[in-house]
Amino acid sequence: MELGRTMKVLKNSLRISHDIVEKVVCEGDVVVDATAGNGNDTLFLAKLVGESGHIYSFDIQDIAIEKTKEKLEAGKVAERVTLIKDGHQNIDKYLQKDIKAAMFNLGYLPGGNHSVHTTSHTTILAIQKCLDLLVPHGIVMLVIYYGGDSGFDEKGAVMNFLSTLDCKKYSVLMHDFINQINCPPIAVCIEKL
Ligand SMILES: C[S@@+](CC[C@H](N)C(=O)[O-])C[C@H]1O[C@@H](n2cnc3c(N)ncnc32)[C@H](O)[C@@H]1O
Repeated sequence: MELGRTMKVLKNSLRISHDIVEKVVCEGDVVVDATAGNGNDTLFLAKLVGESGHIYSFDIQDIAIEKTKEKLEAGKVAERVTLIKDGHQNIDKYLQKDIKAAMFNLGYLPGGNHSVHTTSHTTILAIQKCLDLLVPHGIVMLVIYYGGDSGFDEKGAVMNFLSTLDCKKYSVLMHDFINQINCPPIAVCIEKL
């Protein structure tokens, strides 16, 4: 199509993450939003799983839970979501069954308090627990914001951890721009084999 020639081909990490999740998550699936934040990803997931699916959405901040609730109510999909004000590292307290996907947006709440952000220890613990809960060919999708207020520690620790995953059990794919300034977020997808 002629119009397509004028469109940007390489999408940003957030768009890439949604494109991948969209290919995996179907109507009726159980999925996790590990970092609810302003509720954008939870709303996105709620549309994908439909009325018969369910989302467990975590955040440690009241403001994030409230914003997500408002967004879901406005979208008339609130009944598809269980909002949990707790750290994603405690996911096994709430979920013991199979999940199709888990999304993590690492960093701080946009427009919120920058000193409250995800941290390497709890993020890695939560990823490990999500990997255990995944069905075969389910995915954990990460968008990693780093640099600036968030620092580089979490990104480094998470990437180190992911590089140790057994390649017979998991595939890990990273999407990064290597020539940009200001640390654009990177997307990482882990598929359970
Ligand atoms: C980048 S924001 C998420 C943006 C969100 N996905 C959206 O669509 O708006 C990161 C969120 O992670 C939350 N967070 C930080 N540590 C957490 C933890 N241990 N468990 C769950 N959420 C956490 C922060 O409160 C913040 O709201």
